[in-house]
Amino acid sequence: MHDDHPGRQTGQDPGADGTTRPGSRRSFIRTGSLTVTAAAIGAAGASALTPSAAAAPTTSVEEARRAGRPVPLTPACGGHETPSAVEGPLFKPESPARTDVVTPGTRGVELVLTGTVYDTACRPLPGTLIEFWQCDQNGDYDTSGFSLRSHQYATGRGTYRLRTIVPRDYTGRWGTRTPHIHVRVQTPGGPLLITQIYFPDTTRAYGRDFAALNAADQFFNRSCLIALAGPTGGAYTGAFDFVVKTTAP
Ligand SMILES: [Fe+2]
Repeated sequence: MHDDHPGRQTGQDPGADGTTRPGSRRSFIRTGSLTVTAAAIGAAGASALTPSAAAAPTTSVEEARRAGRPVPLTPACGGHETPSAVEGPLFKPESPARTDVVTPGTRGVELVLTGTVYDTACRPLPGTLIEFWQCDQNGDYDTSGFSLRSHQYATGRGTYRLRTIVPRDYTGRWGTRTPHIHVRVQTPGGPLLITQIYFPDTTRAYGRDFAALNAADQFFNRSCLIALAGPTGGAYTGAFDFVVKTTAP
């Protein structure tokens, strides 16, 4: 459940998902260039680049799949619907149609997210509308524009691709929110799925402790974890497949 605050859609409140966060800003800083360096990953992440950390996966999910290697945490289609989650107050309709929300002004740790939309019989669903929205590297949502907001239609194979950044945690009306991406999935003629997808405990970005943040978030759902690989060259590759109901026989 959620309670909308229309004013927040117009940028009157700088907070994310409903509550002012000290130091947060009304909209994104639009200067500078995309930062995908160890500095963005954070001091904790940089110091974690030890020999033991170097053993962490460095190949992309796509490479692993092509090589026939298992990808840990990949949410394989087993016919189980992707769980729904609270929409929150900061969804905006009519976002731009695009598969890349990284602009010259975007800062943060890059993420290329891919996946497939399936029905509960694990059949791909071409043409499915997928809408993404998220906060930035500071935990702020763009309430006056459409930064880090987009929609796209699944390809003829039911696949999608989004180039974005890893969002940051924030404190909102529901307390600590671990980094997450909001998603709406609408099959042609089918019911609307509203959900949120999350990052593994081992994710390194902005010097944040994702394990602690995940543990502290009342909405966090491990069945909605992105299968993450990297970072390679400062960028993560992630995979998440959506399984949704349809009205088709
Ligand atoms: Fe959110």
